[in-house]
Amino acid sequence: MKNILITGGAGFIGSHVVRLFVNKYPNYHIYNLDALTYAGNMENNIDVEGKENYSFIKGDITDDIFIKEIFEKYKFEGVVHLAAESHVDRSISNPNEFINTNVIGTANLLNAARTLWKDNMEGKRFYHISTDEVYGSLGKKGLFTEETSYDPKSPYSASKASSDHLVRAYYNTYNLPVVISNCSNNYGPNQFPEKLLPLSINNIVNKRPIPIYGKGDNIRDWLYVVDHARAIDMIYHDAKAGETYNIGGHNELQNIELIYQLCDIMDEKLGRYKGESRKLITFVTDRAGHDMRYAIDASKIHRDLGWKPSLEFPEGLRKTVDWYLDNTQWSENILSGDYEKYYEKQYNNR
Ligand code: NAD
Ligand code: DAU
Repeated sequence: MKNILITGGAGFIGSHVVRLFVNKYPNYHIYNLDALTYAGNMENNIDVEGKENYSFIKGDITDDIFIKEIFEKYKFEGVVHLAAESHVDRSISNPNEFINTNVIGTANLLNAARTLWKDNMEGKRFYHISTDEVYGSLGKKGLFTEETSYDPKSPYSASKASSDHLVRAYYNTYNLPVVISNCSNNYGPNQFPEKLLPLSINNIVNKRPIPIYGKGDNIRDWLYVVDHARAIDMIYHDAKAGETYNIGGHNELQNIELIYQLCDIMDEKLGRYKGESRKLITFVTDRAGHDMRYAIDASKIHRDLGWKPSLEFPEGLRKTVDWYLDNTQWSENILSGDYEKYYEKQYNNR
């Protein structure tokens, strides 16, 4: 049995990675370490709870003593690090939490892995999950490659860029066997409804305005979350130490186009007349420093590891809508908590 630590496994992407690893690798014992911040949700792990090769640890990656203790206790041989503060808007109103969790938290994990593995790095792996936002914003043309210079523009992306630099520094300086991937926008089941797609789904269901920042012409490259988890599995197992991979959906869409597609599907699923949900679209004050365009060149991971997205976007979007409509209790449990306070603060007077 190999003990593998997955951080942030009660969050959106982390829960899909936990599910994949627990089910696919019975010879791994998966320890899901999560602080259960507002974004962490144990309901996301319900289907693996009780499995013999799965344990949940509630804990904070910013607590260096606690992190050292669990590395000592469980002798992890691999780390898949997803825990982070992940929402750009929250980083604009509260940057320090992002610096603490994303930078200091990552440094604590690197230090604990280095201490535990210093005499034998053989078979060990520290996998840091990052974002395409570290590259900044693209103009009308071009794609982010692994060679693109870092140019982060928000406190969130700057904190992720800092953590990426630390991870590379530990490879270069201490030979820590690291890998990094930088992925584009994920969508799919279990995403916290502060992010564009699930927020819009909830608002359409509840006939609330859909807030679109600026003109809605910003472009994101959308990838179904299960395909990201598949890529993480391949990179964890097959990438060479020190490598970086970009992951993306080859699926660029302007925000407004995405919301039009969503509205039309929602009208059909909710039995509303065609065009009803589009009437909810409301253009609001733009996000400060809003990156215009992200788009990933994912040819390296395709060439080296044979990964490509398994789903076309229209199919993934329908699956996502179906999941939210079939799991209304999941959303209601979130909406009945502190969510409304966040919503008021973020969107009132915008
Ligand atoms: P999320 O916000 O849904 O989940 C983050 C999880 O981390 C939560 O369960 C939270 O409780 C946990 N966490 C936060 N602070 C913690 C701390 N101090 N200690 C322990 N746990 C803590 O995020 P997500 O969208 O699933 O993103 C996961 C990772 O993937 C992040 O590192 C993010 O930067 C990266 N990423 C996300 C996307 C995307 O589109 N969502 C794309 C590329 C990369
Ligand atoms: O690119 C990867 C990144 O994608 C991840 O690293 C981040 O963790 C993840 O949150 C996501 O960042 P974005 O800022 O792109 O995602 P978000 O869903 O917040 O916004 C998507 C686009 O929609 C963006 O251009 C801002 C816009 N938007 C967002 C919200 C929440 C709106 O127009 N209205 C909204 O209410």
